Amino acid sequence: LATTHVLDEYRFEITKELARITGLGEDFIFPLVENKYPKDAASGDFSIAVPRMKLPGSPAEIAKDLESKFTASPKISSVKASGVFLKIWIHNHLLRDRLIPRVLNQGEKYGQNSSGFGKVSLVEFSSPNIAKPFHVGHLRSTIIGNFIENTLQANGWTTVTINYLGDWGKQFGLLAVGYLKHGNEEALEKDPIRHLFEVYVKINAEATENPAIHDEARAYFARMEEGGTEALGMWKKFVDLSIVKYREIYGRVNVSFDLYSGESHFRAQDKCVRDVVQKLKDLDLLKLDQGAQVINMEEYKLGVAIIEKRDGGMMYLGRDVAAAVERQKEYKFDNMIYVVGSQQDHHFKQLFKILELMGVPWAEKCQHVNFGMIKSKDGNMSTRKGTVVFLEDILDNVQESMLEVMKRNEAKFAQIQNPTFVADTIGITGIMIQDMGSRRNKDYEFNWDRMLAFEGDTGPYLQYAHTRLCSIERKAGFDIPATVDMAPLTEPVAAALLDCIAMYPDVVREVGVQLEPCSIVSYAFRLSHAVSNCLEELYVMNQPPEIASARLAMYKAARITLGNALRALGIVPLDRM
Ligand code: ARG
Repeated sequence: LATTHVLDEYRFEITKELARITGLGEDFIFPLVENKYPKDAASGDFSIAVPRMKLPGSPAEIAKDLESKFTASPKISSVKASGVFLKIWIHNHLLRDRLIPRVLNQGEKYGQNSSGFGKVSLVEFSSPNIAKPFHVGHLRSTIIGNFIENTLQANGWTTVTINYLGDWGKQFGLLAVGYLKHGNEEALEKDPIRHLFEVYVKINAEATENPAIHDEARAYFARMEEGGTEALGMWKKFVDLSIVKYREIYGRVNVSFDLYSGESHFRAQDKCVRDVVQKLKDLDLLKLDQGAQVINMEEYKLGVAIIEKRDGGMMYLGRDVAAAVERQKEYKFDNMIYVVGSQQDHHFKQLFKILELMGVPWAEKCQHVNFGMIKSKDGNMSTRKGTVVFLEDILDNVQESMLEVMKRNEAKFAQIQNPTFVADTIGITGIMIQDMGSRRNKDYEFNWDRMLAFEGDTGPYLQYAHTRLCSIERKAGFDIPATVDMAPLTEPVAAALLDCIAMYPDVVREVGVQLEPCSIVSYAFRLSHAVSNCLEELYVMNQPPEIASARLAMYKAARITLGNALRALGIVPLDRM
């Protein structure tokens, strides 16, 4: 039982003692030992719900029995039965003395564990469609996917991130026809995402008036599917230029992908797609229905899934089946996560069922991490300047608002080296914290004023808490000595802060399984509030050296922990703002 997690060291001792008394297995008991937070003298430091031990007899009596047989140890001071619970008290000064040096020593690694060691997780997220708006669903997928990547890494996993771009389909025939009529080379090079969207909107409108355009588009796309060099050349240019631009914008939100592998890798005639279709036929799953290839999934209450259309075109679902098979071949993943909104729940249920029916042993390793919608009055994300459809506009908007706020404090503003980066980061933190503040499945309303406020549970507040801690270290005027006596940290506010710092590795472990970012968000707020309570009472400046050193060490441990929590969410912690 080796660990670098301080709370686990106590858990192990409690576990061993309970295993000795009851004869139950240590692996079974260990997860039942719960850390109490916040705690007070009566609550104990840890507790166990005795019914969960599943021992025969009355839980209240068993609790009493455990109490009487439990022997205290250097780490554990006492235990007490309380109804069906067993409460445990530890020697808190030991925790304090061991925790801080460990956090300082581990730095950015504090909180991480190696439970995912040697395992590979594919995380597919963001996945916008070229020439169409980057809508709020893509924004949420980007934020949550980025969190999942960082959190899995903190749990020891190797991650491969994929952006499954919508870069194929009939609409690319239409886009090409539109570009030949309205395209502008210069505008395309300058801002491909915006220009292609404009062209697409224009040609769509024209096609409604003049259906012949649709025929032209179909013919163009058919040439693309056949692999016509000229037709593909133009499409490739659209995609390549768009990816360059996407990379730049994702960079602003601190997101990057190991792989851009879009739908175009899975065309009707591609070998991997033909193989999958053949396999579905061999298994007698595919049936011809009015010329289309379908899988009847009525018996699983999943309707009828269309794989291939009457004209031989591949459906979204068919592509996804082929993509999953290819990814398993290529990466031998232990886990594949699709971060896509709840509107596509049905699609992923069909996809996973098909993989199961195909008998692939890894079907159960695929997971749809879904999320609710962002609501706004008109169904769009409206800013002061109007409706936005591009991620870039949202980012520019929050950057501008934050710069305005920062400029109000001229003296401070003058000290900031890279004001646009800082404004960008605070604004994005605001968006991210609002997005990840509640359970994923909940819808929420995009509220510009609330998310950018500096008071309340907002992103800017968390960044502010982090910069305050950085500023204490800057202003202290001395370095923390190699060994610090933590004994001066006796105040209840200090104990509460240390308890909060100590539980961070538990939070990382939990979110690694639940993939609910709100657990880290609420932890970051608890920690920031505990920090703020300390800052009101426990000064570093003008104190006797031993007190100043102990406090500074505690604040540094808090800064490291808060920084790690923000990084796990995919946020860059700021030093100044
Ligand atoms: N491009 C799709 C959309 O915008 C999302 C792709 C989701 N991923 C998948 N493997 N189907 O709706």
